[in-house]
Amino acid sequence: MKTLVIASSNSGKIHEFTSLMKALPINVQPQPEGMEVEETGSTFAANAQLKAKAVACRTGEWALADDSGLRVDALDGAPGVHSARYAATDAARIERLLKAIENCNQREAHFCAALCIAAPDGRVLLEVEGRCQGRITRTPRGDQGFGYDPIFEVDGTGLTFAEMALAEKKLHGHRGRAFTALEPQLRELLATL
Ligand code: IMP
Repeated sequence: MKTLVIASSNSGKIHEFTSLMKALPINVQPQPEGMEVEETGSTFAANAQLKAKAVACRTGEWALADDSGLRVDALDGAPGVHSARYAATDAARIERLLKAIENCNQREAHFCAALCIAAPDGRVLLEVEGRCQGRITRTPRGDQGFGYDPIFEVDGTGLTFAEMALAEKKLHGHRGRAFTALEPQLRELLATL
């Protein structure tokens, strides 16, 4: 059976990917310990590629990587690829973002998740992107999830990600949508082996 290494050291992500791949004829493995790839790309897709290629090359197996973040229209797409580094903690990141658009009525934003599967020779085998459109609330709401979840209200739901059950977030969320796009393509790819 083909092996797919998850190019992440985040145990939550590894768990999420492993559960997604459960129905596929593929052997999912975590990446080697202590391996960190610098995210120097200017887009989510570029960073997902960087990570997938580095881990595929290092392990000699196919590797799957993701990169995600929040793009706020009024901030020209910031924090974007810098979402994780926008401030030191989740609470500080939320505070900084709310302050940055404090006097702004334009609150539109979207989350984006890019996924990439690369081969050991550096070829990109699959690339997909998932998006979730919404708006930045004036104050945080809800206590589920992580990151910017309490200040991101999903269009058409009236709820922030932090007010949703995990299953609902998966359905609407950027990562869930990217997964949904990836699965049939990965099945096809596996069938060609
Ligand atoms: P990375 O994809 O691990 O590089 O991190 C992306 C960063 O974007 C996270 O640290 C969060 O700050 C933010 N982010 C990505 N997805 C979500 C989400 O579903 N909810 C809240 N914040 C998110």
